[in-house]
Amino acid sequence: MSDIVSTPSGALVGVARVPSDKSISHRSVIFGAIAKGVTHVSNLLEGEDVLATIAAFRNLGVQIEGPENGSLIITGAGMKGLEIGEPELDLGNSGTSMRLLAGLLVGQRFNTRLTGDASLRRRPMSRVVDPLTEMGAAIEAVDGHPPLRIKGGVVLQGIEYRLPVASAQVKSAVLLAGLYASGSTTVIEPTPTRDHTERMLAGFAGANWHPGDRFRTDSELELSGQRLSVPADISSAAFLLVAATLRPKSDLVLSGVGINPTRSAIVDILELMGADIEVSRKRMESNEPVCDFRVRSASLVGIDVPPDLVANAIDEFPVIAVAAAGAAGVTRIRGASELRFKESDRIASMIRGLTSLGIETVEYRDGMDITGGRFSSGSVESFGDHRIAMAFAVAGCIAEGSIEITDTDNIRTSFPGFVSLMNSMGSNLKVRS
Ligand code: S3P
Repeated sequence: MSDIVSTPSGALVGVARVPSDKSISHRSVIFGAIAKGVTHVSNLLEGEDVLATIAAFRNLGVQIEGPENGSLIITGAGMKGLEIGEPELDLGNSGTSMRLLAGLLVGQRFNTRLTGDASLRRRPMSRVVDPLTEMGAAIEAVDGHPPLRIKGGVVLQGIEYRLPVASAQVKSAVLLAGLYASGSTTVIEPTPTRDHTERMLAGFAGANWHPGDRFRTDSELELSGQRLSVPADISSAAFLLVAATLRPKSDLVLSGVGINPTRSAIVDILELMGADIEVSRKRMESNEPVCDFRVRSASLVGIDVPPDLVANAIDEFPVIAVAAAGAAGVTRIRGASELRFKESDRIASMIRGLTSLGIETVEYRDGMDITGGRFSSGSVESFGDHRIAMAFAVAGCIAEGSIEITDTDNIRTSFPGFVSLMNSMGSNLKVRS
């Protein structure tokens, strides 16, 4: 188990491409696996979560070459061609793999059991079990948590499902099950969540993709292999956007970053706080909008985070909390109780770390208040959560002394090469095993 020591750095300067998008990488493997024909993926994220999805599909009989330098070749098994090897699939730390695979596997002929590491086994699964059960699936959790036991060979019916929580994973699970259900399946969202599943489905199915809040699948959809290129992950870019904003004299360019409107609220929030982020070269790649960011240092002020931006920045709150700690005045985050159900309870994890580093905070059930100040030196835990670890590594760039973050191997789930990329831009991170 390794730790990171982050010591105040100079300016962050340079041009970089952060690793590719985790959500889109998972989906490219899933749709490639059930399509007819070959799917070529370039710029796949080789993070541990995506590797768990790849391993699961190999075990489901899908021929997959790579990943090698981000390139993956999937020979699709077709919608009905999956076969089970070992019935237990271990999905490591990856909630996305578990929830999306649950949706896909309830429609197969064979039985499966989905499990994961200690953090994943604590995460809520009733949110997928309930709608899938409504569709006729035989799926059971243990007190609402993994492992999930799925019995195959059942008949699924399409449903119209109104999501009780804003969750792209649940939406995607229901839509994937809908591919194996009679009639059509429609998901209605309380607020728009990331739409990578719908965009990718439109490519693989050649169907019309209707923007809006109602999404539909049915068993008539034929999927055929695609050529896909995965954009850089805006959730990973967020760490550099905040570090460069807070560190004086910084000037960074981040290229080829996905700027899907259901993911880009981090830019809106940082801009409301006073950040200087220039978006250029907007273009489409594999049905997803992509751009380059140029970010220069700026003084930030605390804000009340607009509630309508919360769902579309849900993964960025650990680093938004660090930005708030580096801003003048108070930042108020509310309507974000979903943060309690991530790789760790991210409200509790950030409050613990920020408070121990001398930042004034108030914890709420659905958010927190953070008063800007100076980070003192100290030691914080990652709570086994990659985004908590990286957020505090960013805090160390602007602290009064070094910040030690313990248990940081989990960064490999989403941002392999984080330390070397940050250091090549000017940060001062050391890994201690
Ligand atoms: C994801 C959806 C979000 C996000 C997660 C990835 C996805 O989770 O937090 O990191 O790829 O669909 P929820 O659906 O639980 O909000």
